[in-house]
Amino acid sequence: MAKQTLTAAQRRLRDLAKKHGTPLMVISRSALKRQVRRFREALPRVEPFFAVKANPHPEIVKTMVGESTGFDVASLPEIRAVLAAGAKPDRLIYANTVKPVASLIAALKAGVNLMTFDSEYELDKIAEHAPRARVLARVKVPNIGSIVELSLKFGADPSDAMSLLIKSKKMGLDPVGLSFHVGSQCTRVENYIQALEIASILLKDAQLKQLPLSIVDIGGGYPIPHFDHEDDPFDSSAPVIRREIDRLIPGNIRMIAEPGRFMVGPAVTLVMGVIGKSIRENKHWYYLDDGLYADLSGMVFDHCKYQFKVMRNGRTQLSTLAGPTCDSFDIIERGEELPELELGDLVYVENIGAYSSASATSFNGLEPAKIIVVN
Ligand SMILES: Cc1ncc(COP(=O)(O)O)c(C=O)c1O
Repeated sequence: MAKQTLTAAQRRLRDLAKKHGTPLMVISRSALKRQVRRFREALPRVEPFFAVKANPHPEIVKTMVGESTGFDVASLPEIRAVLAAGAKPDRLIYANTVKPVASLIAALKAGVNLMTFDSEYELDKIAEHAPRARVLARVKVPNIGSIVELSLKFGADPSDAMSLLIKSKKMGLDPVGLSFHVGSQCTRVENYIQALEIASILLKDAQLKQLPLSIVDIGGGYPIPHFDHEDDPFDSSAPVIRREIDRLIPGNIRMIAEPGRFMVGPAVTLVMGVIGKSIRENKHWYYLDDGLYADLSGMVFDHCKYQFKVMRNGRTQLSTLAGPTCDSFDIIERGEELPELELGDLVYVENIGAYSSASATSFNGLEPAKIIVVN
């Protein structure tokens, strides 16, 4: 059970955990900026509108304002938070296809008038409560292989998109474009290619029907690596997406995207402490101070798999990691190969910035991790 020689990054995490306690979420501002830069360099025609839902921490939103990204907002509280951080309303897209009436009214009053829809019912609502809004029809596109399938719940059939856009015009709205989402953590680049092909056909059709569109919103989905041995999947998919945009979408069309996971995932590390230990069925169980109800909630809602790392060397054995609540659902991993850990040891997870603290609750009165921002 030797303590291993720690890397500089591990020593830093250990010192931060000593200072702030655990569980601790460490957000790296420089990593956030790096992800924005990578996105822009890889897809120069596409303006990133950060999907706030992935991680709405105020410092993250502030950093994105500083980087002049736009924002994909899903609710009135997100709209308020982003505007309060200094974003201009014309840099927001209200990209929830189902919007409560009161939020629509408040969004328009705040100057946010670019929004998506995918049904006739939503158009009626928008026309009544947000007249003259600029609308994008969200179309259903293949989500094959994506970790989170969004076309299950959202997107009009492409064959209905044109009639919806025509209807929106008749209702006094301003039909400006199309949007799609290929599913979150999309490692199958063909989804983007097929979605862009659908968008290309619809753009041509709209032109023929005297309804020229000016925006294509290619949504989110850009994947990140969660494990050390993985190649970065964005590096292989982004050049293909870039090439297909140039092939399929006329140069006068404004391209925007709604990356969430890609912007924040790699920028955050979660450090947890071992608060309990037992042997059950001949296996070591380690109870951590964070779990499925809090910052590891992405394992449930986001179907995320994480790599759990420790700061100890030694012979490994199959072990179980469990969370701190009294619920037996709160078992994190049953088959982790780990050296024997002691109470007070640290277990950490990198690349955990997206859909983690955003969906954490304080079940059993246990607060989610303290969040700190480093440079
Ligand atoms: C409408 C919309 N846009 C963008 C995103 C962000 O997607 P991702 O985090 O995969 O980039 C989501 C995620 O659910 C979404 O629903």
